[in-house]
Order: sequence, then C-alpha cells, then structure tokens
Amino acid sequence: MTSQTSAVVPQSADRSAAATQREEWWRGAVIYQVYPRSFADSDGDGIGDLPGIRERLPYLRRLGVDAVWLSPFYASPQADAGYDVADYRRVDPVFGTLDDARELLDEAHGLGLRVIVDLVPNHCSDQHEWFQQALREGPGSPMRERFHFRPGQGDDGELPPNDWQSVFGGSAWDRVTEPDGTPGEWYLHLFAPQQPDFDWQHETVREEFRSVLRFWLDLGVDGFRIDVAHGMVKAPGLPDVGGRTEVQLLDNRELPFFDQDGVHEIYHDWRAILDSYPGERIGVAEAWTSTVARSARYLRPGELHQAFNFSYLTTDWDADALRTVITDSLEAMAAVGAPATWVLSNHDVVRHSTRLSGGDAAVAVPRARAATLLMLGLPGSVYVYQGEELGLPEVTELPAGVRQDPAFFRGDGQSGLRDGCRVPLPWSGERAPYGFGPAGDGPSWLPQPESWAKLSVAAQTGDPDSTLEFYRSALAVRRAEPALGAGESVTWLDAPAGVLAFRRDADGGSVVCAVNVGGTPAVLPSYGRLLLASGPLAVDPDEAEVTLPADTGAWWAV
Ligand code: NOJ
Repeated sequence: MTSQTSAVVPQSADRSAAATQREEWWRGAVIYQVYPRSFADSDGDGIGDLPGIRERLPYLRRLGVDAVWLSPFYASPQADAGYDVADYRRVDPVFGTLDDARELLDEAHGLGLRVIVDLVPNHCSDQHEWFQQALREGPGSPMRERFHFRPGQGDDGELPPNDWQSVFGGSAWDRVTEPDGTPGEWYLHLFAPQQPDFDWQHETVREEFRSVLRFWLDLGVDGFRIDVAHGMVKAPGLPDVGGRTEVQLLDNRELPFFDQDGVHEIYHDWRAILDSYPGERIGVAEAWTSTVARSARYLRPGELHQAFNFSYLTTDWDADALRTVITDSLEAMAAVGAPATWVLSNHDVVRHSTRLSGGDAAVAVPRARAATLLMLGLPGSVYVYQGEELGLPEVTELPAGVRQDPAFFRGDGQSGLRDGCRVPLPWSGERAPYGFGPAGDGPSWLPQPESWAKLSVAAQTGDPDSTLEFYRSALAVRRAEPALGAGESVTWLDAPAGVLAFRRDADGGSVVCAVNVGGTPAVLPSYGRLLLASGPLAVDPDEAEVTLPADTGAWWAV
C-alpha cells in the first residue's frame, strides 16, 4: 500500500465573472457567512466593521466562494448582537456608514462576489422609534397596534397574557410602565425583552418592510437572509402553548408562534418585489421547522429561493441518520423545484469541529474536514460560516465576565454557548488579536485562545496539509467539476457499513463522493481518478482498492 494525500488541484479553476453570473446562480452557490463584529476590525475598537470586511474581500474571492451573507450591521443597541434593529436604513457607527456599505457592495461585485444582507422582520429593538412612540402614547394608541401589546391576567394584570416562553428563556412577555407611572400592558418578545415582536397583521408593518426591502435592493444587495422567517405570524388570539416549557428554535411541537400558514402570504409579496429587480435577487429563510418538508413550503413557486437546512445541521455523525436527512432533503426540495441547501455551522450553534467530535480533539479536525467534503459533494447550495475554513474549534472556556450573548444571561434559555462560535478570526501573527485589528496588541471584543496563532490565515496559507488549503482545493474542484454544485439528486452506491457513498452525474462526467462516518477503516473500490481527499488514503498498488480511514472523505472523477 502507498499513502496518498489530497490531490493537487489547479488554483486557476474557472472563476470568471461570467461563471458566477450564470442563470440561477443561487442553485449551486457557496455562500460564506460573515459575522461582521468578528471578521476584521479596521479601526482598532476591537469590533469588526464594514471597511474591515472590504479589505478582506480578496481573501474570500481566493477562497472560492460565490457570495457573502452579512449578519446585521444596522443601527442597533446590540442587545442581541445587532439582531435588535433600531433603524433598518442606517448602518451602526460601530460598523461604519452607508457609504461603507455601498463601497463594500461595489467592490464585492467587482470581484464577482454577490452580497446578501440580513433582514430582521419579526422584531425590532426596543429603541426603535415606533416602539418608543408606542410606549409614550399608551394603551389603545395606534402605535401599540404595530406590536403585540396586551393587558395582563390576574386581578391587577400582574400575570403575562399567555404562557409563551422566550427562545432565550423566561416569559416571552414583559410589562411596561405606562406614561402615568402605573404598571401597564405587556408586550410580546419571542427573543430578548429588548426585541419586541411586530404585529404582522398590521398593514403599516407590511408596507414598512416592503420599503426596507426596496431600500437595500436599490443599494445593490443580491438578496436577504430572513431572520426568524417562520415567526412573523402568530395564531389568532395568541392561544396558550399548554405548558410553560422552554422553547428551542428547532422545536418539534406545533407552536402558535412558529411556522403558521399565514406567513407564506408575506413571502409571495416579497418574491414579487425581488423579481422586479434585475439580476436574480434572492430570499433565504431562516426557518427552524420540524421537518425539511415543512421548510420546503417556504420555497414553493412564488415564495423564497432557499431555506437553511437545520435538520441537516442538527444530524449526528451517523451514516444512517445522514443518509436519511440527505434523502429527505433532496426529495422535499425537488417536490417544490428548489435547491437543497447544506450547512454545518453558523453564529448560533457550536462550531461543527467541536460538535461532531463531541469535544474529542483528536478527531475534531479530520471529522470536520470529512463532513465538509460530504456537504460540498451534495447537490445544491452550501453555507460556510467564517472560520470553519480555518478549522476553528468552539471556544468553550470563555469566562462569564466576557460573555455577551443574551441567552447566556436568561437562565433557563438556550445553551448560552453562542459566544464560543463568535470569537474574532485570527488572520496573522503570534499574539492576540492575531491581525483581527490594525494594532499588534489591540483589543478584540471576545478574547481569542493562545492556540489560535497556528490557525491563522497566514499560518495556514501555502501549507498543503492545512484546513484552509483543503477548503480552497475543495471549492476549486467543486467549481471545476460539472457533476458537483447545483443539481437535484444523488445515486447511492453500495458501501460498507458506516460509509456513505454516492455518485453524481453530469454531461461533463461523473463524480463519486465517499465518506467514512464509521469508526474503522473501510476498503472501497478505487472509483476512478482521485480528485481530493480530506486526509491521507491508503491505496492498493494495483489501484483496484482504496482504504478510507475513519473520519475521512474523498471525491473521484469517474
Ligand atoms: C436568529 C439569529 O440567527 C440569532 O442570532 C438571533 O438571536 C435570533 N434570530 C433573534 O433575532
């Protein structure tokens, strides 16, 4: 047996602007999530910003992604890291200015990168002008109708209007003090108390968001990632859930505030707006639904283009479970003519190198790389979260004193681990903040671990064994092979237990993807010419067989 590592791929695989502007670009796009406060800090305040992102666009182009999704950078008190928007048409000074946003868009487009921005329509900030006015104008005022204000239960209205729990823990209702100083009505917030929910039955709310969409489309954005896309419409009468149990984003119960049928009307409305602009602007649903079939409902003709596949993200490293979720996803999406999407990490979940390995550092990187090859081999569109291309682990040792995630402070809420995946990126150098900011020893809003020096972009660039070069190769091969990228189906191949193997066919040739999810090496036929492997493979001298070690994946051209 000889040992074979990742194949060398041409770095000059076709990256022309024409290729990225092909029709329905989003069907096979690799979309990179930038979390602005943690990406790159241009002014040294310890928080990333738009000029910082602009400076690093060439890095993203070289990485080989098609588009960038920017988490919120709008005017916000940052009670939930910008998902509490005080003004939907302004850039928060901490991130820059509207001109910075304009320049970022222009420069990205010049490099052949599309840009999607986050839209947060379920709720705003309690500092939003409308909410402040609603507080001032008191019960019965028209401004209160734009939110869910209700009298409390109990003799003195001292109990919340219903039993709904906030996703961040505790009641989903807070009581206000009325202008005359008396304890008054309650308002609904499915997330933090600083994030009051809009009432989407109110036409003014709908009209306002049409206008916000147009504002950013006019500025040139290529689409929107829609926050809590399953939450805007609540069941009439706001009925009790029937049990004061904690609500998780992916909750398998039918809940009166998630995934209500009425929400689809909004997306028909928005699709017409998106389609009225040239260049295929897209809408992507962040909808935590109980099944992929429920997610597909957001992508029916005339609705949105993509939805995040959280069922895939939450699937364990288990061959049968993965095969089931992949099959179900492809079937559900094909039924509505939408592309499947795949995602392993984002700013709300434990980074997948840590999550999939259960904290076992020895398997973390190999398994994460194998998972990446599987994800990039599947038909459809892929979301990459900043830093996963560096193999960053979840930072699990953040002291309570530096934590900022509101969920962390609301006791029985979600795991409260979201700060650990939001630690600023290491770009270069031996000491924190590793090139995140302009000064060698400047601040970063969350501390970076010492071990990150060897994970920086500079440290990994040019090292053929690094995770960064592996991502670059994988994205280049995916772009160059007609059988990879967009598509609707896979052909499953017989494989030893614990191995997922499938073929993808196109006019220009076929590709086999095999990933060993089991705990022991597996012997497979040598399917053809090795395109890329996530780690070393043992190859039989007569090349009839190949041994795929545990936690390893590979692609072959056949
Ligand atoms: C989902 C976002 O991804 C998350 O970060 C945020 O806290 C909630 N929506 C509320 O906006």
